[in-house]
Parts: sequence; C-alpha cells; structure tokens
Amino acid sequence: MVGANLRGPMDSNLSSLSDILAFHAQAGVDAALEEAPVNRFATAAAARDLKRVAPQAQEARPAPAGARPAAAPVASARPAPAPAGASVLPMPNLAAQPPDEAVMAAREAARAAGSLEELREILERFEGCPLKRTATRLVFADGNPKARVMLVGEAPGRDEDAQGLPFVGRSGRLLDLMLGAIGLDRTSAYIANVIPWRPPGNRTPTPQETAICLPFIRRQVELADPDFLICLGNPSAQTLLGVTEGITKTRGRFFPYDTGTRTIKAMPTFHPAYLLRTPLGKRMVWRDLLAVEAALKAGEGQ
Ligand code: URA
Repeated sequence: MVGANLRGPMDSNLSSLSDILAFHAQAGVDAALEEAPVNRFATAAAARDLKRVAPQAQEARPAPAGARPAAAPVASARPAPAPAGASVLPMPNLAAQPPDEAVMAAREAARAAGSLEELREILERFEGCPLKRTATRLVFADGNPKARVMLVGEAPGRDEDAQGLPFVGRSGRLLDLMLGAIGLDRTSAYIANVIPWRPPGNRTPTPQETAICLPFIRRQVELADPDFLICLGNPSAQTLLGVTEGITKTRGRFFPYDTGTRTIKAMPTFHPAYLLRTPLGKRMVWRDLLAVEAALKAGEGQ
C-alpha cells in the first residue's frame, strides 16, 4: 500500500528531530516555505468562516440609492464568531503585487536589459515573482551564450536550485547525452528555463508565474540570439511558441520563433525527464535532434 510505512508526526516513535526530518523527506517535503510553521487546518477553518460571513455582511450593507429593496435576510446579519486564535493567524502575503502589475513590471525590467549579464542582474533584483521567495537561488543559464543552439526547459528542480545551474540533475545528465548525440556539449549549446526559480516541491508553475517569467526568457533568447531553439517539453513549447497542441503532436517539426529581432527555427522535443520515465521516446528525440543537426550543418539560420 502506498505510504503504508510512513509514520505520522504524532507517532510516539518519533523521538528525535532527525525522525521528523526523515518523515518529511519520505512524504516528499523537501522545501521550507516559511520561517515559521503555519497551521493550515486553522487557516482553512478561518477561510470557511469568512465565506459564511461575507454574504451576510453584504445583506447588512445599506442598499444603494434607487436600488430595489432586498428581500429580508433569512439569517441574522451578525457575523459568526471567529474561531479561537483566528485573528492572530499569519496570512501568507502572496498578493504583494497584483498579478497584472507583476507581469507589466517584468516586461519593463526585461526590456531594460542590454546584455545577458544585465538580464541576470535584473532578475536577481526582481521581486515580482512569488517563486523567488521559496527558491534558494536564481537559476539563470549554463553553457555558451554565443552558441548557435539554445535549449529551454521548464523550471529548475532540486539539484538545479542547489547549484544555481539548469539541468544538472538526472535529466541534465541525459540532456548532456542527447547533446552529445549531435556533437554538442555545454561549450557549444546555451541552456536556460522558462522559469528561473524552482517551484516549491517541483510543483507545476502557475499560469501567473509563467506569465511573469515569460518576458525574461523571451529577452534572454533575444540577447543570446541563437540560430536554433530547442524547446524541451510541453510547457516550454507551449509557452514560447504559443502552440496549443501537446508535445506528441508538435515535436519533430520546426516552428518559426520571433526573437524580437529576427525569426529563427524552433524545434519542440520531449523533455529528458519524460525520457527517463519513457525510454521509448528516445528514438523520437534522436530524430528531432538529427533534424536540428542537419539544419545546423546546412548553415541555416546564419
Ligand atoms: N527540468 C527542467 O525543465 N529544467 C531544469 O533545469 C531541470 C529539470
């Protein structure tokens, strides 16, 4: 049974901190999100109570001039008492910046970068993406920024977050083999991600987080100015190429990509993490990469 040997924190066998840490690691918890613990059961109860109170409070508000009188409220307009301790619950401040403002700030910041180094510095200072608060560090890029081929993945994982470099974990090792198959390595390819901060626990980035990071990766491609872009996996292909079909349909074909200064060829292909789970896909990636190699050798894009 899945998780059958996981011990709960109330278990009397948990006698030491290392037991508790081991429990969390087994449960897949590998990132600390806040300085202090938050009782989510209490926050959920408070939110439920707030929901119950909100419609009642609306009924109690005076009707605007000219409005039809509302039917008499069935329930009393008195707010339900807050659960004990609710007023002192720490609320995560996720709305520090309204979403649209954060996207606009990202666009402006990305435009201001005149070089890849400036872009990295701007990203180091950018506070508009909530992922920055939970990640250990920025994962900007690896490889040769002057390379003719740029590869873009989705977001850093645990190893990348620890080292500050993209694709250095298991998928990274497979990516190196994939590159080697067409005679490339990190001196002849440039590697980045759509999202430059690790999402906590490797969760999927939200559409909002992706929208905030998009101007930065677009500017990064523009400044690196590769001849070919390889989108690793569906999120990268859909975000950068604006395609809606899934990766099984889009892979293996060149798409036009407007860098901002010129149009280059972009090839979506399977993400190495997918290949680790589905080795049969390697044949198709091999074909996709051969197409890129042929185009490179033909001098296309130069
Ligand atoms: N997966 C990605 O998409 N990017 C990385 O950097 C590592 C794993």
